Amino acid sequence: MALTVGYEVDEGVAVLSLQNPPVNALGIALRRDLLAAFETALADRSVRVIVLIGQGKLFCAGGDISEFGKPFKAPWVPELFNTVEQSTKPVIAAIHGAALGGGMELALACHYRVCEARARIGFPEVSLGLLPGAGGTQRAPRLCGAETALELMITGKSVAAGSGAARVFFDLIVKEGLREAAMTFAQRLVEKGLPVRRTRDARNGLKDAAAYQTAIAKWRKRLGKGGAEAPGEILRCVEAAALLPFDVGMAFERAAFDTLEQSETSRALRHVFFAENKVAKIPEAKAGHARALEQIGVIGGGTRGAGLVALSLMAGFEVVLVEKDAPSLARALTRLRRLLDRAVSRGQLSALRRDGIEALLHGKTDMVALSEADLVIVAAGGDALEQGQIFAQLDAVVKDGAVLASASPFADIGALAERTGCAEDVLGLHFSLPTQMSDLVEVAVGPASGADAVVTATTFARKLGKVPVRVLGVPGRIGGRLMAAYQAAADRLVMSGALPQEVDRAMRRWGMALGPYQLADVMGLERVLARQEECGHDRRVALLRALIKDGRLGRKTSKGWYRYDADGGRVDPEVAAMIASLRGQTGGGSFPDESDIQRLCLAAMANEGARMVEEGHVMRPGDIDVAMIRGFAFPRWRGGPMQAADSAGLLSLRNLLRTCAQDGDAFWRPVNLLDDLIKNGRHFSDLNG
Ligand code: COA
Repeated sequence: MALTVGYEVDEGVAVLSLQNPPVNALGIALRRDLLAAFETALADRSVRVIVLIGQGKLFCAGGDISEFGKPFKAPWVPELFNTVEQSTKPVIAAIHGAALGGGMELALACHYRVCEARARIGFPEVSLGLLPGAGGTQRAPRLCGAETALELMITGKSVAAGSGAARVFFDLIVKEGLREAAMTFAQRLVEKGLPVRRTRDARNGLKDAAAYQTAIAKWRKRLGKGGAEAPGEILRCVEAAALLPFDVGMAFERAAFDTLEQSETSRALRHVFFAENKVAKIPEAKAGHARALEQIGVIGGGTRGAGLVALSLMAGFEVVLVEKDAPSLARALTRLRRLLDRAVSRGQLSALRRDGIEALLHGKTDMVALSEADLVIVAAGGDALEQGQIFAQLDAVVKDGAVLASASPFADIGALAERTGCAEDVLGLHFSLPTQMSDLVEVAVGPASGADAVVTATTFARKLGKVPVRVLGVPGRIGGRLMAAYQAAADRLVMSGALPQEVDRAMRRWGMALGPYQLADVMGLERVLARQEECGHDRRVALLRALIKDGRLGRKTSKGWYRYDADGGRVDPEVAAMIASLRGQTGGGSFPDESDIQRLCLAAMANEGARMVEEGHVMRPGDIDVAMIRGFAFPRWRGGPMQAADSAGLLSLRNLLRTCAQDGDAFWRPVNLLDDLIKNGRHFSDLNG
């Protein structure tokens, strides 16, 4: 029998077990093997009932996502499932672990379903910009009605099979002993002579027509007019399930699936799925072992430091916070308490836990208190000199094997490591702000950082619920450099004729939560200037400097790029006048339109990202995409800047950069990697491995 599906017959029951690690995805090999095993079972006269079961950690995680967007190979998933449903012998799905997407659709095509109560079921396709396209939108509502089907398919969330409305899909729910339960169930079917029971003929979910229509209307209202395509298509398909004969509904579902599958949004979301899996694959993971982590030290209780302390406490670590003197420590503790209170109000922390959590905290003013810490994060010391001094002092107090991390985005990890006698334990841990809200931690690896230290740091980041992305420990992290490039592009557009509000509007319409100038006002213009200078944009910040000189520091001074009052921000004619005066000195006046704005901002970010890949600063373009989505609110459905550049066309972006570089500013020159990719007809996505 074939490799990806096991076949055995036990007292008239054929057991077909899916064996396609790691998640029994329905790739071509498994589909062929399943069909062959099925035909064998149907042809075998001794077989009365067929049981489908999964091996490994789960039943089936659905279609093989890497096959989407490519020409399909027979047997086609919906046809395979129809074959299962049309079986003349009863088919039972036995579900453990999870049945997701196509896995759940396979179960629905079976005649009976047995499951473990804790198994997760769901339709996550929507998170890939897709819908359940193998009969899910037609079969599920026939069993559970429109409300449950839409809730599962539009939110994409999985639920426990034994809980609430999910129970309706199952004939038997067991705590454990799934295989035995499924075999007993099969024997009972034989004894009672129970027939096949096709979901396509089920009516239970459709019989309350009014409730069905109410659910459709409710979700239609909730989705509104705009929004993503997939939820709207799911709604239409579930509506069609009640209106159309099954086979016509299947064709309706198929047409909708095909359209979504070819969409740029789905391509981008599929890219993000794999990029997020790959980002965890770092060379140190092979050789390194995570060290035990109980006590975390944080030096500096400013915005970043206090955020780190709060996160560490919430994750259950004991924390030693060190500040330079008692007043600074008192301020840091006030900041920390505010953060914890905010976490309670957001529901991230229970009020009960909040009250007990400070027992895990030790606020100190002497570094000696860090002697027992397993990991010390230096969130103080603005410049390289100060950080170097702190690392030298730390070296004298920490225990052997403690990992020492700089939280500064501009730290040179190699240089810091040289100030200590434990270079292999030194690295960078750069948390994006606001630490509580952002998912990203850039793990900066120096020339001497050891595998154990890197694995310990990434493990720590994951325990805080963050996504660690590995970068080289030289100054400048992914987010800082790309956001600086984005800002440089925006400023160039403004200097050449656009207004800040036009740039902001264009980028919001492109998908960014805030335009670059709105964001600058939130961050504070001085911080933006510091970042631009650190990233080498000194000669591109004349406008920014002029605003700061005029006392425009952003929202905190009620004026920056915009003017603020109780009603929010509005365009400030004074800013327009300042821009006009500066433009007068430098030329300008080409009036870029919305698509020019979007393309230049994207080109600048992608070129900077390509520079980081070329320099070996990041391992893959996909890592940049993950970092920008998780840390800098880049729209997930665009797939990140590198994927968006692939979609926009590398050639046209390179030509745009070349035009900008004509004024001699090297920043705009397309990096060699971009030229190489274009020459070889390749894309950034080809470099993700
Ligand atoms: N198709 C192809 N590959 C898949 C896959 C799928 N449906 N689901 C998971 N994988 C791959 C992952 O990319 C990963 O590959 P890698 O080891 O090369 O990195 C591997 O399987 C393990 O997945 P991972 O996510 O690390 O395992 P997990 O135990 O943390 O989570 C799942 C398991 C099933 C919950 C999770 O993988 C998942 O949500 N998968 C997607 C399910 C889905 O969207 N199905 C609908 C498809 S239309």
